Amino acid sequence: MQTTEKIIDEKRQGEALNITTEKKHNKKLFLESYGCQMNFSDSEIVASILDKEGYATTQNFEEADLILLNTCSIREKAEQTVRNRLSQFNQVKQKNPSLTIGVLGCMAERLKDKFLEEEHLVDLVVGPDAYRDLPNLLKQTDDGRSAVNVILSKDETYANLSPVRLGGNGVTAFVSITRGCDNMCTFCVVPFTRGRERSRDPHSILNECKELWENGYKEITLLGQNVDSYLWYGGGLKKDFKKATEMQKATAVDFAMLLDMVATAVPGMRIRFSTSNPQDMGRDVLHVMAKHENICKYIHLPVQSGNTEVLKRMNRQHTREEYIALIDDIKTILPTCALSHDMIAGFCDETEEEHQDTLSLMEYVKYDFGYMFAYSDRPGTPAHKKMDDNVPDDVKKRRLTEIINLQQKHSAERMNSYVGKVHEVLIEGNSKRDDQEWMGRNTQNAVVVFPKTGNEKVGDFVMVRVDSCTTATLLGEKV
Ligand code: SAH
Ligand code: F3S
Repeated sequence: MQTTEKIIDEKRQGEALNITTEKKHNKKLFLESYGCQMNFSDSEIVASILDKEGYATTQNFEEADLILLNTCSIREKAEQTVRNRLSQFNQVKQKNPSLTIGVLGCMAERLKDKFLEEEHLVDLVVGPDAYRDLPNLLKQTDDGRSAVNVILSKDETYANLSPVRLGGNGVTAFVSITRGCDNMCTFCVVPFTRGRERSRDPHSILNECKELWENGYKEITLLGQNVDSYLWYGGGLKKDFKKATEMQKATAVDFAMLLDMVATAVPGMRIRFSTSNPQDMGRDVLHVMAKHENICKYIHLPVQSGNTEVLKRMNRQHTREEYIALIDDIKTILPTCALSHDMIAGFCDETEEEHQDTLSLMEYVKYDFGYMFAYSDRPGTPAHKKMDDNVPDDVKKRRLTEIINLQQKHSAERMNSYVGKVHEVLIEGNSKRDDQEWMGRNTQNAVVVFPKTGNEKVGDFVMVRVDSCTTATLLGEKV
């Protein structure tokens, strides 16, 4: 089974970040992240802000002066994990009353009153657009007051902040290009927790990419809730583009143009992006991908359901047929491109026939990977307000199992199709099972493991002939 979840990477949940710097630090920060790649990327911004305030990171929360949890609200389970963790930290605080505990990210807005006033679980609550305010807020908590800033911004993109790269391999890095989301999928909390959609200045994106290249990085992933919707016209919200001047409109940069610019600016760098949204993914993006060797042939294209009526209830702005047309074009323009999906089982009113449409869509596309979830009703979302979470839990679970089983079968088929071929692999580090073997990925994002020969190192691109595979890993030898 595909266990490496791209969107919510289960292996990274609760990872505490670790930075080493030469500057003088007298305070210790324990910062743990949950949720999507954007949260992990945001934690690097927070670490960079606190680095300037004299905080060094620690992997041991018992010795910390400040504990921060960067939280996720996407499903109920994610919130529960964070709550359990906060109770653990509060036991440490009983022994060390000067310890400050804070919550960052998506749970901030929704649970600030509960955490601060009702349950006294935290001293500090900071929303995803307010991290620059952390030094001020920490002055308040130092004075024994609680502090909160959950204001969402129209223009904050942290553009000029150089994130500290955390827990990384020095080879792959995230570069955020948009924040927030305007789509209002009815099941999703993101538009409420992360605010309206805004794009980051392309010059600051290009500078960050070049800097990463100069520092030895070999692969970047451009990040946003919906990267295809990227639009820079001098700043401001996506929804205000219609009010832009003629000049701003004429010189605006969209995602296809940005991708072209990045691929040209750092030609040796591998480029990935996530997440694509079928309603906004233009054919021009596919042509830019085809034009540049260094743009990886892999698209994460969440669909959520294979049935048009369900898509309508989810407020996804496309039909099953439109999605299939996009898939067909991807397969024509980019014949070697791998695809992955997000799927939700048991959304409100989902019938057995509608569920069958999801399975048949999967049969049609034959995705390489999938990230699959049972629908989880989230307070504050349009679905929570207007629809009935009426698919019984056992039915949701059974449908989810059917979806997962089918995906496993397709993953195995796709993996098998890579056997017998030579792949360019970027070495990311040792294989988990055997430090005599390397682990890397091919352009399609499949994990490749092969024996070390002594003539290659982390960050090298090597050619590997794949001889066999498991359901999630390709095995081969360097050629
Ligand atoms: N556009 C975002 C989506 C974030 S949420 C991105 O960057 O990928 C990631 C996935 O979680 C969604 O695609 C959806 O499949 C799943 N998800 C979101 N809300 C959910 C809910 N209420 N119940 C179950 N799954 C959900
Ligand atoms: Fe959520 Fe839909 Fe945006 S899934 S993040 S509202 S594209």
